[in-house]
Amino acid sequence: MGAIGIFDSGVGGLTVARAIMEELPGRRVIYLGDTARVPYGPKSPRTIRRFSKENGDFLADHGIDALVVACNTASALAIEELHSRYPFPVLGVLEPGVREGLRAAKGGPLGVIGTVGTIKSAAYRLAAARLDSAAVVECRACPLFVPLAEEGMVDHLATELIARDYLEPLTTAGIRALVLGCTHYPLLAPIIQRVVGADVTLVDSADAVARELVARLPDAQAGSEATVPPSPNRFFVTDIATRFSEVGARFLGSELPAVELADLVE
Ligand code: DGL
Repeated sequence: MGAIGIFDSGVGGLTVARAIMEELPGRRVIYLGDTARVPYGPKSPRTIRRFSKENGDFLADHGIDALVVACNTASALAIEELHSRYPFPVLGVLEPGVREGLRAAKGGPLGVIGTVGTIKSAAYRLAAARLDSAAVVECRACPLFVPLAEEGMVDHLATELIARDYLEPLTTAGIRALVLGCTHYPLLAPIIQRVVGADVTLVDSADAVARELVARLPDAQAGSEATVPPSPNRFFVTDIATRFSEVGARFLGSELPAVELADLVE
């Protein structure tokens, strides 16, 4: 039984890794945070596709039998190419998030926040229209949220002021639910919730992705009976970012084992 490969531009995807580790405690996880090249949000689709293929190839070389793209930007811009590149299932975070979001919005306006790359791609709007042609979707890019989360400024007045500025058009539009369309954003959820108000349901796609993974893995049942992985989980980064372990522990909800350096071009 192979491992589950997961990648993101940095620590954000650890929120997804955590959900997967909870759902499938018997499966080994191999995580790659592309800390040398974070953030992905402002970069061009061509560059994101190249980074995503390099990340996917690195994980594929580690004997994985599913790849989870725990990054909305890469899910929005590179998922098709990754699907055709590997023989194993490749899952993005976008579709599960939209599905949950539409359910939570109950026919009312749905808000989506994400990086500039994700929002510009219109991938969320298109995915929502495919599921419900009458869906009203209000999108907003929140580029400063990623560095704020990477810096661990999750309960800081500056973050709250920025959140007010970003989210005001969405609250004015009367959104009923808000998809956190970037895997870094769940860490800012308490501030975001405060700003949009308790009536708006926040949707984090991590749990939905973990459930979809169980459905897609032919031998998931065998994995879900075990309570520990057959060998230790591994966490790689492309640059030893000083704060990765410290901030990463917050995203993962537990201490990170020793973080290893990945050489993608080796
Ligand atoms: N966490 C990623 C996402 O879900 C990327 C953030 C970034 O690197 O800009 O979009």
